[in-house]
Amino acid sequence: MAGYLVEDTRKITTNRLIEMKKQGKKIAMLTSYDYTMAQIVDQAGIEIILVGDSASNVMAGNETTLPITIEQMIYHARSVTRGAKRALVVCDMPFGTYQVNPVEGVKNAIRIMQETGADALKLEGGVEILDTIKAILNAGIPVMGHLGLTPQSINKFGTYAVRAKEEAEAQKLLSDAKALEEAGCFSLVVEKIPTALTEKVCNSLHIPVIGIGGGPADGQVLVVHDMLGMNKGFAPKFLRRYADLHTIMTDAIGQYIMDVKEGDFPNEEERY
Ligand code: KIV
Repeated sequence: MAGYLVEDTRKITTNRLIEMKKQGKKIAMLTSYDYTMAQIVDQAGIEIILVGDSASNVMAGNETTLPITIEQMIYHARSVTRGAKRALVVCDMPFGTYQVNPVEGVKNAIRIMQETGADALKLEGGVEILDTIKAILNAGIPVMGHLGLTPQSINKFGTYAVRAKEEAEAQKLLSDAKALEEAGCFSLVVEKIPTALTEKVCNSLHIPVIGIGGGPADGQVLVVHDMLGMNKGFAPKFLRRYADLHTIMTDAIGQYIMDVKEGDFPNEEERY
């Protein structure tokens, strides 16, 4: 079965990911928020598991990523690191935990690393948060950047539309990307930007650029519930559905309900 290609079971490290880019090997990344999903995703052979603050939407049903707290992210990330043996586990720093100042950012970064066992952190933003990113890196914590559509800034953007279509924003994104690499970030996510800009960013950096809704890049990331088709209502152009788990699960649960009501479950073999 394609995907179960993990003869090499050594733990994925940030250096190995940078090496993969050098060798022209693509990187696959998915989100997970709990132990069971992380085990499945890890055993399938993914390189990076992101404990995304999209947990706010997917797990808690919030409209945006803003309400999720550091305690809730720690709970999700701790569950994921128990399930993931090989993949590099990256945890999102939630909104409000790194934007105030570098000292608070480092304190929260250290807390997340200590209490979750995650391998790295992801922060949204460019030069505006560069001092904080440098301080976190100085504490010995690997950082993944995130540019383009940064959902924690949705109230500033006012829309989830494609970012950096205009030259000025594209130029800023490119210089932010270079600044993040120079600061020492090991990787960068670019979300919902034009394909040509993604290509430019990939060609300008030595670190791997992971795309979502940005066309071809050094790797790709999707929200696991979306690509498994568990979330029927969310259908952006960039999303490829690899399964229809919503239908499979609904049918299975419907069958269970019928079996219980008709007295078919439990049968002779399913009792003590
Ligand atoms: O929180 C998340 O899931 C993310 C990905 C969409 C990149 O940041």
